[in-house]
Amino acid sequence: MQPQRQFDHSHTTPPTPVTPSSDHPIIRSSDHLNDVTRAMNNMYRYTRYVYDASRKYYLLGRDRMINELRARPGEIVIEVGCGTARNLIQMARLYPQAKFYGLDASEEMLKTAQESIDRAGLTDQIKIAHGFAQNFDPAAMFDIAPGSIDKIVFSYALSMIPPWQESLDHALTLIKPALPATPAGPAQVGGSVHIVDFGSQEGLPKWFRAFLFWWLDLFGVHFRPELPVYVRTLSSKNFKPMITTGLKGYYWLAEIRR
Ligand SMILES: C[S@@+](CC[C@H](N)C(=O)[O-])C[C@H]1O[C@@H](n2cnc3c(N)ncnc32)[C@H](O)[C@@H]1O
Repeated sequence: MQPQRQFDHSHTTPPTPVTPSSDHPIIRSSDHLNDVTRAMNNMYRYTRYVYDASRKYYLLGRDRMINELRARPGEIVIEVGCGTARNLIQMARLYPQAKFYGLDASEEMLKTAQESIDRAGLTDQIKIAHGFAQNFDPAAMFDIAPGSIDKIVFSYALSMIPPWQESLDHALTLIKPALPATPAGPAQVGGSVHIVDFGSQEGLPKWFRAFLFWWLDLFGVHFRPELPVYVRTLSSKNFKPMITTGLKGYYWLAEIRR
């Protein structure tokens, strides 16, 4: 990764048009998202080649999240910010009868992801596409029928996405609703959102925490103490959130069920 400035990904609706001039250019939603793509492409153009080898030492907790996902046969799972498809491939191997989809803002990452998926022989089980956490449309991208997504995964992605709350809220609108049994059919289990990301490092030495957060900041990655707080508030919106931590607070895991 190369150090980058932080991008504000939040303008997903077009602002009021203004007259273009040299000092007041028109900024539209698509322009802004193009900036996000450009920034992520720049960040990963070269580092994608060493991404999996290097990140295994500090993107911890990903395999625990994958093991606890328990995707059932026929389920549809989407990873938002799928990067090199490392997780998608692990999940597809562990749950061979589920279908996996990934999206990422970086076309460069997606090149590596597609090569890895092809090499793993999982082309039929995993589909990937370019898109944004805050506004992706699974029907348009992957032909997934509305209301049929079982699980959405964010693995070390929300710490890199400034509109993290908007992105999480968007995912929550996309997962399958829980439905009671009716004479016409059995009850439907609701979908869930799964998150693994940097924790508050509370059990680790203070110097380690200070160094880690300083270093992550250089690469546009930010520990978000407000994220688990927000996840807990979702119980007041009829969701069932569960949060755990691992490795002395190095990472935290959340599962939010409908
Ligand atoms: C730290 S990487 C994590 C990759 C993968 N999830 C993993 O666990 O190995 C974060 C990924 O999020 C992607 N990303 C950043 N902003 C995004 C956005 N707004 N929408 C979708 N993906 C985004 C980046 O391009 C990058 O591939």
